[in-house]
Parts: sequence; structure tokens; C-alpha cells
Amino acid sequence: MHLGIILCLVISEVSSAVLDQRPSGKSSWTGKLLVVPMDGSHWTGVKAVAEEMGRRGHTVIVVIPEISMRLGPGKHYITKTFPVNYELDLLNEILTEHVRVVTSPGQSLLKSMTSTAAIFIKIFNMMVSTSESLFKNQELIGFLREQNFDAVLTDPALPMGAILAYNLSVPAVYMLRGMPCGIDAAATACPDPPSYIPRFHTQNSDRMTFSQRVLNFFVSILEPLICKFVYWPYEEVTFNFLQRDVSLTEILKTGAIWLMRYDFNLEFPKPLMPNMQLIGGINCEIGNPLTKADPVMLKEGWLWGLGSGLLLLWLGAWLRPAQGGRVLVMPVEGSHWLSMKVLAIELAQRGHNLLVLVPENNILIQSSELFRTETFPVNISKEELSTSLKGFQEGVFKRSPALMDIMIQVERLMKFTGMQVQGCESLLYNKPLMQKLKEENFDMVLTDPFLPCGPIIATALGLPAVYFLRLMPCGLDMLASQCPSPPSYVPRFQSGGTDKMTFVERVKNFVMSGVELALCRIMYASFDELASRYLDVDVTYQEIISRGAVWLLRYDFTFEYPRPLMPNMVFIGGINCQKSAKLSAEVEEFVKGSGEHGIVVFSLGSLVSSMPKEKAAIFFKAFSMIPQRVLWRYTGEIPDNVPENVKLMKWLPQNDLLGHSKAKAFITHGGTHGIYEGICHGVPMVMLPLFGDQGDNVHRMATRGVGVVLSIHDITAETLVDALNTVINDGSYKQRMEKLSAIHNDRPVQPLDLAVYWTEFVMRHKGADHLRPAAHELNWLQYHSLDVIGFLLFIVLIVTIATFKCCALCWSRCCRKSQKRKED
Ligand SMILES: *[C@@H]1O[C@H](CO)[C@@H](O)[C@H](O)[C@H]1NC(C)=O
Ligand SMILES: *[C@@H]1O[C@H](CO)[C@@H](O)[C@H](O)[C@H]1NC(C)=O
Repeated sequence: MHLGIILCLVISEVSSAVLDQRPSGKSSWTGKLLVVPMDGSHWTGVKAVAEEMGRRGHTVIVVIPEISMRLGPGKHYITKTFPVNYELDLLNEILTEHVRVVTSPGQSLLKSMTSTAAIFIKIFNMMVSTSESLFKNQELIGFLREQNFDAVLTDPALPMGAILAYNLSVPAVYMLRGMPCGIDAAATACPDPPSYIPRFHTQNSDRMTFSQRVLNFFVSILEPLICKFVYWPYEEVTFNFLQRDVSLTEILKTGAIWLMRYDFNLEFPKPLMPNMQLIGGINCEIGNPLTKADPVMLKEGWLWGLGSGLLLLWLGAWLRPAQGGRVLVMPVEGSHWLSMKVLAIELAQRGHNLLVLVPENNILIQSSELFRTETFPVNISKEELSTSLKGFQEGVFKRSPALMDIMIQVERLMKFTGMQVQGCESLLYNKPLMQKLKEENFDMVLTDPFLPCGPIIATALGLPAVYFLRLMPCGLDMLASQCPSPPSYVPRFQSGGTDKMTFVERVKNFVMSGVELALCRIMYASFDELASRYLDVDVTYQEIISRGAVWLLRYDFTFEYPRPLMPNMVFIGGINCQKSAKLSAEVEEFVKGSGEHGIVVFSLGSLVSSMPKEKAAIFFKAFSMIPQRVLWRYTGEIPDNVPENVKLMKWLPQNDLLGHSKAKAFITHGGTHGIYEGICHGVPMVMLPLFGDQGDNVHRMATRGVGVVLSIHDITAETLVDALNTVINDGSYKQRMEKLSAIHNDRPVQPLDLAVYWTEFVMRHKGADHLRPAAHELNWLQYHSLDVIGFLLFIVLIVTIATFKCCALCWSRCCRKSQKRKED
């Protein structure tokens, strides 16, 4: 099946799903939208959105010039026109001239270029003049200002709308394909390496020869200049309107959302920013572009749209895997499995056939009637694992000397992974089992690349892989997916920085990014060795995981700092907290009994459920001093005098408790699962980071003002009570948390559905090659265009030397002549 058709299918299904739900829920909120469109083909998509927004009950005002080619009124929006100082004749003239240039045969390249440029300049002058007419129309501007719009929708290729939004201080939504001279990349701060992202008009692809890369690089240097030239006439218009000097790039930088008419069947895969949303193919949903408001045509158009929609729906239902796909699941123990399980269960419920590989010594992975499990022997017994786990749990409560912290953490991590790698080895070299897996004919592998077994099996069996993870130590996930991570604003692991750093912090972060690279080499050495040995080729683990089809990342930008992304990354942060179930009768009764004071939920995660007696005593004491009831996941020694308001449990229904209206605070170690559950349900936190990424996680939440961080080593009953009182009684914590929660929960597709969708996508299309950036084929020098820069510098050097030599030669000749003359 052709990919494009399927995309349209998906879009039409999503939109029909949205249509079905229209009377309920989200659309009850209505706002005021100002639309500033651009004439010509750009109008089609913008008009469709304006109509749809109006139909959903928003007030939509479209501002258009009195004279235009295609802009006009619609059924569901209000139009406001403004006079311009050109005539319709000018438009017609440009149009006919354009047609003449395009159709006249046999013109020389130069001639066709100059005539195209002439038309372009005419169009451009007209656009500038349109903007000027709008900005000078004080009556209309005043009217628009009074409207207090909630957003402006505009095409930034005609920057009039963006400038207006800036002046009205209204957030802007841009809708565009792209902008000339890469000003969109500059305004979104989106990395745009010229080594594999072809520039406008170069006719390069994403795989370039050296000379093509030289050209591409050259054009990329010229782009800012071209931009300056192209948008130069706007400077004066902008200055006159805003009454101050602001560059167009600065104005565009304030855009809230960029709706890109982009799709990677057409575009080459490249980095994206979180505020870019891809809507390529929006026009295939509209159906036949309708010609000007002809009522009969309109009706037929809708009928056609409806008919094809139904057909597509039917096709879509038919295309769904009837007997389901075959998925091999290789999970990672601990909390990693708990969230992958959510996806595994959902896939099984949708009729896919799952086989989960489970090491014999596992603790948390249990079989289910929904999917098959295959247990494989490992030569580390459950007892050994428990002992090591116990040592780990105890280690967490021991204070490590300052500065040694990272070393100790890395050591702990390597010990843990070392043991797991041994488990992997037992699996890979289990010939009968591997043979069996081969014969199962799976469609794909779902795995967490935190451990090497899954990706190596996928490679060995030649299956596409879908990764499910939060992140990988030392940023190997970003390296492997070719995702740029500028150390200037992407804080490194354990650096303690945010995305806004001072110079000193940036120095630190830069150094850390180097250290990280070195660390990666050490940490993954055993993975590299295993992969090379098993697959019998010289390969690194990074190369292996770089072939992953889709990365399902437990990421959400209410929690993470905005950063560049790749097209094959899908964000499913919060997948674990979507469904909260009812509490058991006993727990419900305890919770209800808390009255107006509510409850505090306390858990230190799946790995740490007990603590030394003296530590526990501090918590018991603190809880006896607060009016709230506490539910605590605790399996340690139980003292005699447990306060009455404390309920100890072996396993907490954490998500259900946090989803309960009585939840007032959450004491957590700051693992991402807990944090997302807190965000989902809007519960402020008291955080006690223990190991791994937790220090960074809690730092983020603290900088967002939704929680208080305490040190597990220095904690006293008083500080804990203080912290609890702060987050419970100081309303600002709850308020900020609810705001975060509202943003997190406001999304078109739930993370679980998204994860299922992409997993099925990979099965249907045997991977996602169209999302794989060409950067994978470049080495480090080429990626950063260092070879091109070197080459260009070399040429400059040669030319300089040649010129210098020439001059010197001329000079000496002249001198000699004049000297001779003197001598004469
Ligand atoms: C908007 O424009 C008015 C006048 O045209 C100017 O006085 C005002 O400072 C501008 N506001 C902003 C935010 O640019
Ligand atoms: C576990 O198996 C590996 C080889 O797979 C072997 O080298 C190692 O000695 C075994 N360890 C134990 C404790 O038996």
C-alpha cells in the first residue's frame, strides 16, 4: 500500500474520530482567533483551518485585503477587509505574466531567471504595500486590538500577520511549508546541518557528493544575507508600525506553534523542534479544493469528501491487522518493565500475538494470560540477584563522599548492567531458544535498549525494532539517533544545570558533554564486545541501536527542557498514568477517613521498599506530627508504635491513589514514573532523590516550583514536616502543579494510543525507513562540514597566496622599471 494513502487514511480516521466526539468534552472551550492569510495556494490550508475552527464554535476573524486573487469570505468565519492602494489589474497582470513566463518555450536560462525575478519582485512589492496599508489602517488595528484575541493564525511567508501578532501581544500559530532562506530554522533555533539538509534551489538531496556538499554549505552561509535582502523592505514598514527596531527573526522567534506542511515521504528526515507540528497532507483531507463559493460545487465537494472519507474509513478498517502482528518483547527488569507492560497489554488486547522473553531470575515480570512468556535460564540465581539488590538498596542510604558521587553511581550502574549483560549472553548463546525465535517469524521486536539483548536479537533476526525508554545513560540514545544536543542549552546528566545557563555553567556543561562521550566508550564497552562477538562483525552498540525504526520516548515537555528531536522519536511521557482504577474497598475506606486533610502518598520506587531502622524512625515520627493520612510502600522492619494515620503496604496502587481527589502530597524518590503520575494528577511533591537520573528529575520539578527537594541523608522529622506543610498549605505549589498538569493532559492523542499506533505502523511497513536521516551515512568530519570548511579555507589560502605573489611580482617589476628610469 502506498504510504501517502495510508497517511491520508490515518488523518481521515483521526479527524473522523474527532468529529464524532465534537459535541462533548474539549470543544466546549471556545476562543477568539485572528487569521491573517496569504494569497494564492497558501490560502487553501489556512482557510480549511479557519472554517473548521469556526464550525467548532470559536470566533474567527479573517483579515484580508480588498483586492486579492483567492482570499474571500467563508461560512464559519467573519471577514474584515481593508483597502489597498493597487488595483485588480495589477494582480491580473502579474498572473498573466507568470503564465507567459512559465509556458513560453525555449527561453535561455538567464532570460527565464530574470523574468522570474521580475515577477517575484512585483509580487513582493505588492505584499509589502499590503502590509503597509494594514498597519496604517488605525481604525482596523484599533478594532483588532479591542478584540483581545487568544491567538493569531498566519502564514509567516507573508510576515504581516506575525508582525501584527507581535504588536498585539497575542501568541501566534504559524502555518507554512517553509520559508525562503532558512529564516524558519533560525527563528525556531532548529539545527539544520548543511551536510545532509539540502538548501533551497540547490536541487541537492539529503545524500550529497562532496562537491554538492560544498555548494550546499556555500548557500547556507549566504542564506542570512539573502534573507536580509529579501525581507529588507519589511524593515522600514515594521519600524514604522512598532515604533522600534526589531528584526523579523526576533519577531518570528516569538511564534508559539509552527504547523509545518511537512511529511517525511516528501521531505528528507531532519531535526525538528518540539513546537513544530507536522501537518503535511492537510490538503488531501480537504478533498477537492473548492472554487469560489459556488453553492452547488460546495455541496458536491462535501459529498465527494464524505464519500471518499467513508471509503477510506472502510479501507482503514480493512487494513487493520486481522489476525494481528507477531511481536517479540525483550523487556528490562524493574520500573522499566512496569511502563512497557502498559503497551504490551494494550497490544495484546488489540489482537497482536506477543512473546515476552523473561530471565529465570526475574523479580517483577510475571506472565499474563494476554501474552506468552518464554523463560530462559541465566547463570545468576535469584538469590544472588536479591543479595546484590539488597546491597544496592543499602548503598542508597549511605552517604558517599562529595565529588565521588558520580563515580560511585557509574560503578553501581555498571555492576548492575554487567550482571544483566551476563543474562543477555545466556539468552543469545541459548541455541535451541534462538532457533525457536527464528522460526516464530516475528514482525518486529519491542525492546528497551538500556540492555543490549533486544537490539542484538533484532539485528540477528533482521527484524525492525521499536525502542521504549526514557533515556540512555550518557546520552547514547541521542548519539545513535543522530539527534543534535547542543551543550549550550541541553543540560547534561548530573550537571545540575537547567536549559538557561550562565557562562560558567555552560563551561561546565561543555566539559561534561566531553566527559560523557568518554564515559560512553567505557560504559558500553562490554555491549560492543558482546555485539561484535555474537554477530561476528566489527560493530559498536551505538551502530546497532541506530538502526531502530522508532523511538518511543517517555518524554514530555512539561517535564523535559525543550530540545531538538528527530522525526522517528515519538513522545509518550505519561503513558503509565492514563488510566487510574478504583481503589480496593479497604484502601478506599482508609483514604475516605482522612476527611478534609486528605492523604500523603509515599513510595521510593520499585527497587527501594525498605530502609534502615533509624531512617524509618524519622519518617514515622514526622507522620505522627501531621494531620494527613499517609499510605507508604514499606517492607522494612515495622516498629511497635506505628502512628494511626499511617498505612503500610507492600505494594501501592500509586497511580490510583494520586488520581484520588484526596491526594494532597506525594513523597517520591523522583523516578520518572512517579513524577509523571504526579504531573498527570496535579499532586505537588516532596522529593528524595536516591540514584541515577533522579537527582536531575527532582531538580527540574523544583525549578518549576511544584515540589520541595530534601536529602535522604540529612532528613529530619522537622524538615520533612516543614516540607509537607509547605507543599500542602502554600497554595502556589498546587496551583503551579495544576497548570503543568493541564498542559500535560491537553493533547490530541493519548500516549498509549500513540505508542500502539507507531508499533503497528512499524509492523505494517516493516520499519520506518522514511524517517531515517541521511546523517547516519556521514562521519563526524563530514557531519560538521569540517572537510568542506577545510577545502574552502584551502582555496581561500591558495587564492590569497596567488594574489599576493602576483602583486609582489608586479610591484617588483614596476619598481625595477622606475629605478631603471631614475638611473637613466
Ligand atoms: C504596537 O504599535 C503601536 C503603534 O503602532 C506602538 O505604539 C506599540 O508600542 C506597539 N506595541 C508593541 C508591543 O510592539
Ligand atoms: C556464567 O556463564 C558464563 C558464560 O556464559 C561463564 O563464563 C561464567 O563463568 C558463568 N558464571 C557462573 C557464576 O557460573
